[in-house]
Amino acid sequence: MSRVLVTRRLPRGGLDPLAGHELVQRPDDAPLDHGELVTAARDVDAVVCLLTDRIDAEVLEAGAPRLRVVANVAVGLDNVDVEVAERLGIAVCNTPGVLTETTADLAFLLVLASRRLASSAEADLRAGRWEGWGINQYLGHDVHGATLGIVGYGRIGRAVARRASGFGMRVLHHSRHPTGEPGWVADLDGVLTEADVVSLHVPLAGETRHLIGRRELGLMKPTAALVNTARGPVVDEEALADALHAGTLFAAGLDVYEHEPRIHPRLLGAPRTVLLPHVGSASVATRTAMARLAAEGARAVLAGERPPNLVVPRR
Ligand code: NAP
Ligand code: GLV
Repeated sequence: MSRVLVTRRLPRGGLDPLAGHELVQRPDDAPLDHGELVTAARDVDAVVCLLTDRIDAEVLEAGAPRLRVVANVAVGLDNVDVEVAERLGIAVCNTPGVLTETTADLAFLLVLASRRLASSAEADLRAGRWEGWGINQYLGHDVHGATLGIVGYGRIGRAVARRASGFGMRVLHHSRHPTGEPGWVADLDGVLTEADVVSLHVPLAGETRHLIGRRELGLMKPTAALVNTARGPVVDEEALADALHAGTLFAAGLDVYEHEPRIHPRLLGAPRTVLLPHVGSASVATRTAMARLAAEGARAVLAGERPPNLVVPRR
């Protein structure tokens, strides 16, 4: 029997794969601060954590050599120092695939809502500011017939493309390596200048931090919308807030933020902006599947098996 630190309460059934192991959990659902994570990592064999837990070198070094696996209940791994884990011989697992369709649904919701000004129109109605139908009110831009530019054409980017073709959109995509599929654009700028909606689906890494900055926003059409369900720091929020306030960008639909849970005050006040609290994968079935997949990854590593969701060791 191994000791497994589970940093937060997971959906019901999520930890079933770890039956028989000793689970170390706080009695309440409060997050562990960084010092508590470092201390807790010292005498466990595995950690099952969330994207809100920063599993950095200090945590990993505290855990080694006993700690054998970190299983992140998320596909994004920017909260885990994967290189340090690999150097210390600690396996890392994540949750690819099981959240793809649910996150793509949410991204498409933001495509629709941002193009059609759903949040601002609803806010006016709720605040009693709507005085009846008007021919010039809440004029958005059509989704059908528009060009969607997908940045990061992996699992989620492709799932968004499938939805877009059902809505009669033309789809372009950009990734570093040619996909061999119609619509691939080698140059990010080419997608930004052509698209009516740009939807971001890259992982957060050094190369993608502020991938969409002031210059890139300046390349987008003034009628375009930016949708971000990837990670907040992929976009320079200060530059985005400026573009929205100045009207040089039509709209934005955001699920992720640079400094979660803090939201840039000028984004909170930005016009034509849809803001959701990082709920891309938030369906009962998907969050349960994510927890189970992470727990199964931890179980497998502890049993000396190689799970399919292993990120490191790479082979
Ligand atoms: P994935 O299958 O690994 O796809 C990532 C894509 O990004 C790949 O096509 C990759 O292709 C491309 N890419 C990487 N670096 C790039 C760069 N510098 N420029 C252009 N393209 C680049 O990942 P996924 O499962 O689709 O997930 C994507 C991200 O979505 C996750 O990492 C996570 O941060 C985020 N996410 C958010 C939520 C949410 O709740 N909002 C939920 C799930 C996932 P190349 O290597 O060829 O460039
Ligand atoms: C959610 O943001 C994830 O990366 O799974």
